[in-house]
Amino acid sequence: MSVPGVPNLPAQPRPGLRPDPDWFRTAVFYEALLRSFADSNGDGVGDFRGLASRLDYLAWLGVDAIWIPPFYPSPMRDGGYDIADYTGVDPRYGTMDDFRALVTQAHERGIRVVIDMVLNHTSDAHPWFQASRRDPDGPYGDFYVWADDDSSYADARIIFVDTERSNWAFDELRGQYYWHRFFSHQPDLNYDNPEVVDAVHEVVRFWARTGVDGFRLDAIPYLVEREGTNCENLPGTHHLIAGLREMLDREFPGTITIAEANQWPQDVVAYFGTPQAPECTMCFHFPVMPRIFSSLREGEATAIREVLQATPPIPPHGQWGTFLRNHDELTLEMVTEAERERMYHWYAPQARMRANVGIRRRLAPLLGDSRAELELAHVLLLSLPGSPCLYYGDEIGMGENIWLPDRDAVRTPMQWDHSANMGFSACADPAELTLPLISAVDYAERCVADALEEPESLLHFLKDVLRVRREHPVLGRGDFHLRPASDAAVLAHTRADTPPGGDASETNDGETLLCLANLANRPCEAVVEVPELAGCSTHTVLAADSATASPAIDARGRLTAALPAHGYRWLRVSPGEGL
Ligand code: NOJ
Repeated sequence: MSVPGVPNLPAQPRPGLRPDPDWFRTAVFYEALLRSFADSNGDGVGDFRGLASRLDYLAWLGVDAIWIPPFYPSPMRDGGYDIADYTGVDPRYGTMDDFRALVTQAHERGIRVVIDMVLNHTSDAHPWFQASRRDPDGPYGDFYVWADDDSSYADARIIFVDTERSNWAFDELRGQYYWHRFFSHQPDLNYDNPEVVDAVHEVVRFWARTGVDGFRLDAIPYLVEREGTNCENLPGTHHLIAGLREMLDREFPGTITIAEANQWPQDVVAYFGTPQAPECTMCFHFPVMPRIFSSLREGEATAIREVLQATPPIPPHGQWGTFLRNHDELTLEMVTEAERERMYHWYAPQARMRANVGIRRRLAPLLGDSRAELELAHVLLLSLPGSPCLYYGDEIGMGENIWLPDRDAVRTPMQWDHSANMGFSACADPAELTLPLISAVDYAERCVADALEEPESLLHFLKDVLRVRREHPVLGRGDFHLRPASDAAVLAHTRADTPPGGDASETNDGETLLCLANLANRPCEAVVEVPELAGCSTHTVLAADSATASPAIDARGRLTAALPAHGYRWLRVSPGEGL
C-alpha cells in the first residue's frame, strides 16, 4: 500500500499476527482518533479507509495495536462517546465493510485492533432512550435510571464540572428525572435491569465477531448506583464486568478488555478482578500519568516513586496501561489539591488551557517543546510497568488549539505532509475539516513527512526507542522493583524476568534491565542500590548520551551512574566475570 506524501518508508516485515495470547504485555498501543487521522474521500472527516492507508506508517513506527475511539452513529456532542446506535458505523467514517477491511489490513501487518465500548451511557438520541421516554411501561421503559425527583444518590460527584450542575436531568415527555454521570444528553443505562445486561452483551458479541482484538471499556466505575455511596466502584459494577469477561473468555477467548477507570491505585486494581473472577486484562494507570509531569517540574522522582509504591500488585492475568496524553484533558482527578494547583501553575497558566478537572493541552507544548523532556517522558512511559499507549500526533510534537471548545483543543487533524490540509484531506475545503488545522506558528508546519526526512527528529527517536523496547520484552512482562538512589532526582528501577535474587542470565528470556532517569534539569551522579546484582556488569541498551562507558555493579551491589540533565539510561545486567 502506498502512503501518499510520506516518503522513505522501508517495508517492515510483519507477516500477520503472531499467535501469542500474551501479546498485550509487550505491545505498544496507539490511539488513532478516527475522525482526525486521515480522510480518504475528501469530505473533511477522517475515515476507516484513511486510517487503513496509514497502517504502513504505524507498522514502520513499531505500533502493535491501534485503539480506535467510538465510530458509531452519534450526534457527536461528546466526540462520539454519545452513541445513538451500538451496532452501526457512522457513515462519515465509511461502511461496515470498510471497518472489516481495516481490521483485516491491520492484522496483515501484525497490528491488533482495540475498539471503544461505552457501556455506562448512551446518547439521548439512542432509540432505547427515546422508547424509554415515550413508554415507561414498554420494553425499554426500565433501560435507564428514572426517578420522580432528583434527590437520590446525592453523594455522587459531578464529573463534567464545567458543564453540569447535577447528575439528574428532567425529561418533559416522561415527566421524570433521569440519571447521567456525564453530559445531560448521555443518560446512564440501568444495569439493575437484566435485559440491559443481555442487550449490552449482544452488542459486545456483535463487535467481537468482526475479529477485533479487544475493547476499551469506557467509564466503567459508574455502571451501578446505590443510595448512600458515591456510586463508584461498587460490588455490583465489578460483578457486571466479571460477567462480561466471562462471556468473552467463553465465546471469544483471547479478546482483551481495557479499563478506563480514573481512580486511585487501590480502586483501579480491583478492575483486574481476581484469578477466580477476572475482570479486565488491562487497566489504564491514571494516577501515575500526572506524576510524570509534576516530577519533571519538581526535578525529583519522588511523586512517581510514591505512587508506584502505593500501587498494589496485580493478578497474573493483568497488565497496566500507561500513557502520557490521550483525547481527553490531562486529568488531575487523581492528585491532591496541592498537587493540582501546582500542575495548573506549571502547565496551564491560562484559564483557557483548563477543562473540567484537568488540562486540555498536547504533549509537546506542555513540555515547552523541550526535546530532552519529551525523550525522558517517553523513556519513562516505556520502562514503567505496563504497556504504553501513544496518542496520535504526539510522535511529531503536534500542537494544540486552546481556542477550540472543550477537548477539541487536542483533537485537530493529523499533519502528514505539506500538501492540501497538511495531507489530512486531499481535496476538502479547509472550512469543511472536522476541526481546523493547527495554525500556531511553531506547530503549523510540523508533519510526518518532514520528521521522516530528518534522522534526528522526535519521530525517529521514538521509532528507535520502540525498537529497543521490542528487543527487550522484559520491559513489558518483567517484574518491577524500585531501587534506592542517592539523589532524589533519579528514578531507578529494575525490570526482571527472574525475581530479584535469581540469576541475571545472558539470554533475553531471563533478562534484567536497570532503568535510570534523571528528572532534574541538571546533571547528576547517583549511587543506586541493587544488592542481589552485586558484581554484575552492565551494557547500555539506551542512553541520552552515548559517550560514557556502562558502569559495573560493585561487590556491595552499588552502581554509580552519571546522568546528564533530564538524562536516562537502560542498562542490561549480565553476570560479572567469575560469578
Ligand atoms: C471517557 C472518554 O474518554 C471521554 O472522552 C468521554 O467524554 C467520557 N468517557 C464520557 O463518555
